[in-house]
This record gives sequence, structure tokens and C-alpha cells, in this order.
Amino acid sequence: MPAAFADAPLLLDVRHLSVDYVSRGQPAAHAVDDVSFVLREGEILGLVGESGCGKTTLMLSLMRLLPSAGRIVAGRVDLLGRDLLSLSEKEIADVRWKEMAMIFQGAMNALNPVRTIGDQISEVIVRHNIAGNKAVLDGRISELLELVGIPANRKDQYPHQYSGGMRQRAMIAMALACAPLIVIADEPTTALDVMIQAQILELLLTLRQKLGLAVILVTHDLGVVAEICDSVLVMYGGVTAEYASVNTIYNNPQHPYTQQLLDAFPDLSNPSDRLTSIPGYPPRLDALPPGCRFAPRCSVAFERCHHEQPPLYQLSQFHLASCHRVESE
Ligand SMILES: Nc1ncnc2c1ncn2[C@@H]1O[C@H](COP(=O)(O)OP(=O)(O)O)[C@@H](O)[C@H]1O
Ligand SMILES: [Mg+2]
Repeated sequence: MPAAFADAPLLLDVRHLSVDYVSRGQPAAHAVDDVSFVLREGEILGLVGESGCGKTTLMLSLMRLLPSAGRIVAGRVDLLGRDLLSLSEKEIADVRWKEMAMIFQGAMNALNPVRTIGDQISEVIVRHNIAGNKAVLDGRISELLELVGIPANRKDQYPHQYSGGMRQRAMIAMALACAPLIVIADEPTTALDVMIQAQILELLLTLRQKLGLAVILVTHDLGVVAEICDSVLVMYGGVTAEYASVNTIYNNPQHPYTQQLLDAFPDLSNPSDRLTSIPGYPPRLDALPPGCRFAPRCSVAFERCHHEQPPLYQLSQFHLASCHRVESE
């Protein structure tokens, strides 16, 4: 744990979580395989990896919102000591929004075009029986909008009257509607331009400071993570490649995948200035290579990497990496 968070109360404790997608007549796709992490009050965790590495699946399984083909096949998810995987549908429905809210990938482009932003926020509040009368509800909507930097007098406007950045802010306001402890933001800055991206990240930092909010920021972009995260979980092909504090990830990365992701962002002050990308693609999760999942793309792989999956080695109190080179050094 980063020093600042070691003493903060533990909110979320995810242990050895594995998720498969199953469809008849097909091999199971192991989208998440034995992933563990924690989240403390006020912590911003970056969940990083290329597209198809299992990030969204991991987040949907925490919310118990997997699509019907998805199965949690092993592990535990404890939120404030309650085992979320054993809750009834009704109980988990109460956890969503009130304790843990998720901003879905691409959701800002899926706002209802024929309802005002204020109405859409109000619906979330009303559905959870939080508001009192109309005046209280209106006050709460104004307060939420202002919290995310939208003038309250714009609550009666429709999504098309908002810019992309404002729509994403509105999504964040909606996620905050029931005052959750944790917000999961899945690729919240993807598709926004660099300036607006920076403003959204700044907003998340402000919310952490004002509300003590804990955030899981899902992104394929390590530049984004550098800006605001405390800790980083790098996923590759459904497994944990590396998990450490943000400083360790940037200054002492041990997994070649992390190193190559970093090389793909040579100028962190300008994350869009991507010079290289890692050649090749993440593995198909229904046809994984026998050894390390990254070995086929790894420039430093040796023989063992191709036939033996590396365990997650602990390098220091808060630094884990699944790479055979770590052990042999
Ligand atoms: N509904 C689904 N049914 C079957 N497979 C899925 C489904 N959703 C995602 N997958 C598979 O799970 C893997 C991980 O996807 P995802 O969690 O979306 O990764 P990421 O968010 O890192 O891009 C992908 O290989 C994808 O094909
Ligand atoms: Mg995703």
C-alpha cells in the first residue's frame, strides 16, 4: 500500500477473483484469472491494460452486473467486510449506487436524448428513495451539478446541448447521486480531447478531496494514471501483470508489459503523443498460450516463459509482478 493509504479504512477487498465467459459448444474464455486487490478510503486505483485484457469484466463482476454468459468461478469480493458475492439480488441492488457506483464505458454517449440531464439524475435518486419533496430533490440535483462543475441552471437542458466533457461530468454527477463510497469509472476520458481529459481527471481529484471518495479508474492509458492515481493494477490477458504504488510503477516497473506500456507513452505531459505501441495483440482468452500470457510478445522472454505460467511474485511490501525474470534476478 502507498504510505498515505496504509492506515485508511479498507473499503474493498477483492481476493483471487476469476471470471469466465461460457457459451455452449465453445471453450470457456478466462477473462479474469485469480485477480486480487484492495481499495481504501480516498484511494485512486488505476486499472490499466490494453483493450481485451479483462478490465471491464473485472469491474462488472464487482457490481454483479456481468452479462449472462459471464460466471464468477472463484474468489471473494468484500465491501466493508460484507461478502458481495453471497448477497441476494435485492441486497446487491442496494449496494449499487449507494455504496459503489459505476460509470460505464461509453455511457456519456448513451444518455437518454429526450430527457433533460436533471431528470436523468433525479431518476437515480428517486429510484433509491433518497429524496424528500420536489424542492429537496431539485436542491440535490443543483448541488450535484455544481459539485462536478456544471452551472445548476443547465439542469433543464438535454444531452445534445452539452459538450462531451460536460456529458461526462453529468455522468459523474449521476454516479455521485446516492453518495457512494466508491466510484468505478470505466475509460472516462477515452474519446475526449487532451484538455478535457485533464479537466475530468482534475475533477476526480477534487471529489476525492471533498468527499473522501475512492475511485477505480479504468484506462488503457498509463499517462492518465500518472496524473492522479495512488496505486496501479496492470492487467494482461486476464491476469495481474503488476500491482504497486504509482511511484513504483513509473520508477521501478518490473513486468516487461508495464515497461512496454510506459515506453508507449514517452511524454507523460502529453499522453496523446504516442510514439510506439506494443507490436502484436493481447491473447485470445479462450485460447491462452501455455506459459506466460505475455511471452509471445515479450522481447525478453526465455524458454521457461513459454511453458510455465509465472506466479505473482512479491518484490516488496506493496509490489507484485508476475514475471519469471523477477524470480531469477
Ligand atoms: N459478453 C461477453 N461474452 C463473451 N465474452 C466476452 C463478453 N464481454 C467480454 N468478453 C471477452 O472478455 C475479454 C475481456 O473483455 P473486457 O473485460 O471487455 O476487456 P477490457 O475492458 O480490458 O477491454 C475479451 O476477450 C472479450 O472478448
Ligand atoms: Mg473495457
